[in-house]
Amino acid sequence: MAFVTRNVANAMATSAVKKMVVKTVTVLGSGLMGSGIAQGVGIRLQAKVAGLKFVQDTMKNISTSIDAASVVHSSDLVVEAIVENLQIKQDVFATLDKFVVQTPMTSQITFEALIDFAKALGKHPVACKDTPGFLVNRLLVPYLMESIRLHERGHGSKEDIDMAMKLGANYPMGPFELLDYVGLDTSKYIMDGWHELEPNNPLFAPSPLLDSLVQQGKFGRKTHEGFYKYN
Ligand SMILES: NC(=O)c1ccc[n+]([C@@H]2O[C@H](COP(=O)([O-])OP(=O)(O)OC[C@H]3O[C@@H](n4cnc5c(N)ncnc54)[C@H](O)[C@@H]3O)[C@@H](O)[C@H]2O)c1
Repeated sequence: MAFVTRNVANAMATSAVKKMVVKTVTVLGSGLMGSGIAQGVGIRLQAKVAGLKFVQDTMKNISTSIDAASVVHSSDLVVEAIVENLQIKQDVFATLDKFVVQTPMTSQITFEALIDFAKALGKHPVACKDTPGFLVNRLLVPYLMESIRLHERGHGSKEDIDMAMKLGANYPMGPFELLDYVGLDTSKYIMDGWHELEPNNPLFAPSPLLDSLVQQGKFGRKTHEGFYKYN
């Protein structure tokens, strides 16, 4: 586990209204999501240079630590992106809650600060209630799981299903390519959690094929093998 702190001072300098300003961000976890989030945050908006200097300027905004407690107390924002395991997440939050402010609900000022922060990073934030999978994963994960089930039932090869969805739905990746990219372990843990919440929901039913691949340590691109093999 790595804790990556990125300084994004000045990112919010144009805000006309005095609001909560996010200057220093800690990203917990340095896997697929954590490294991607940290990269997005670390890139200074005003950087117009290209190539090596851009990388060097970005890296100046970054420091890393394996001691979360030593960095979160000086952070304006903490983004949790560790492994999809409720107990591990709860353990980490139990540790960090000693250092960060706890509120029972997200305040409007926090909500607005995060919307502004995301916009300052060039993102397009959307609002969503606190619900499993929020918007994207709530739609995406059942689709990915149904793709596996379609293949498990012998209705199509993974290659043909991927090709069909890329050409038929104009998706940049087919479901099996995307599953390998997301991580089969992460996908399984998400589905297991939802299945536990709603055991009778067929959209959240586990897949023997997915379970078997994860059991074999085939997590997708991160382990060089999932539904496909990678060099
Ligand atoms: N992969 C995706 O496309 C995707 C999309 C949306 C949300 N998410 C969510 O983001 C989170 C991270 O997913 P990911 O794909 O980056 O996973 P990942 O497997 O790539 O990375 C997991 C990170 O958790 C850390 N970790 C593992 N065990 C830990 C422990 N005991 N204590 C603290 N940290 C530990 C690892 O070192 C690693 O940095 C998960 O909750 C996942 O559901 C992932």
